Amino acid sequence: MTPPILRKLAEMRDHTARWRAEGARIGVVPTMGALHRGHLSLVEAAKAECDRVVVWIFVNPKQFNSPEDLENYPRTEVEDAGKLAPFAVDAVYAPDVDQVYPDGFATNVSVSGLTDVLCGAHRSGHFDGVATVVSKIFLQTGADRAYFGEKDFQQLQVVRRMARDLDIPIEVMACPTVREASGLAMSSRNLRLSEGGLAQAAQLYPVLRDLAAELADGARFPPLAERARARLIEAGFDEVDYLELRDEAALQALDHPDRPARIFAAAWIEGVRLIDNLAVPAAVPEGA
Ligand code: PAF
Repeated sequence: MTPPILRKLAEMRDHTARWRAEGARIGVVPTMGALHRGHLSLVEAAKAECDRVVVWIFVNPKQFNSPEDLENYPRTEVEDAGKLAPFAVDAVYAPDVDQVYPDGFATNVSVSGLTDVLCGAHRSGHFDGVATVVSKIFLQTGADRAYFGEKDFQQLQVVRRMARDLDIPIEVMACPTVREASGLAMSSRNLRLSEGGLAQAAQLYPVLRDLAAELADGARFPPLAERARARLIEAGFDEVDYLELRDEAALQALDHPDRPARIFAAAWIEGVRLIDNLAVPAAVPEGA
């Protein structure tokens, strides 16, 4: 059964009030639509842990730092509703723009520190747009749990910090990145790649895996990073925005993984910016 689609905040609030009266635990899966198996894995996790599940679909204009990117972002609402049908979610909340940003909207939620690096350093204003809309997702749905993918790991940490700092009573749940058989991390942006571009883009994951293996053997990151960047360009990427080793909690740059850490990458192919990251096991550096 395709889920009911709510467009107005008042309808969302009515549902939340009814679900609360039932004593239900409410889960929300925030998305911008163009749903793929990565999103559906979040829906699955929400369904397993919550009594009522709402999927948020809204292409948030505030988090795009280029008008072309916003315009080209895939919008596939009918297909999305079809993909959600087997999961029997309780509602899709796809608010009209004025339900999120009413006339005169003047508030900006900004998380400092965590947003200065990685995507924050390359996409000015992006994380303010994310933090602002996600605070609205949490407050409008009144959910108890929200499900995010680890593919956008920096987003996950920003959202966690925002919810904690603003005392929003919600648990932010992280779900592992879902990959194509080729290793390519699932992303709505993959829809914009040609078949050849998809094959080239799949080279990002082996580069991350090889880096992780060398770090596990005790190598230090900086000399490895140069070679790995060159491999990405050879594979067909046009430009590498970043390829960095950072700790998970504060996203500080590391020379070797002496605490829970990840390799983070963003690179351009066929005019599309792809991101990915991979956790690396803690290791003692060579010569230590
Ligand atoms: O990850 C996304 O799709 C978006 O950044 C989110 C969390 C739905 C906010 O618009």
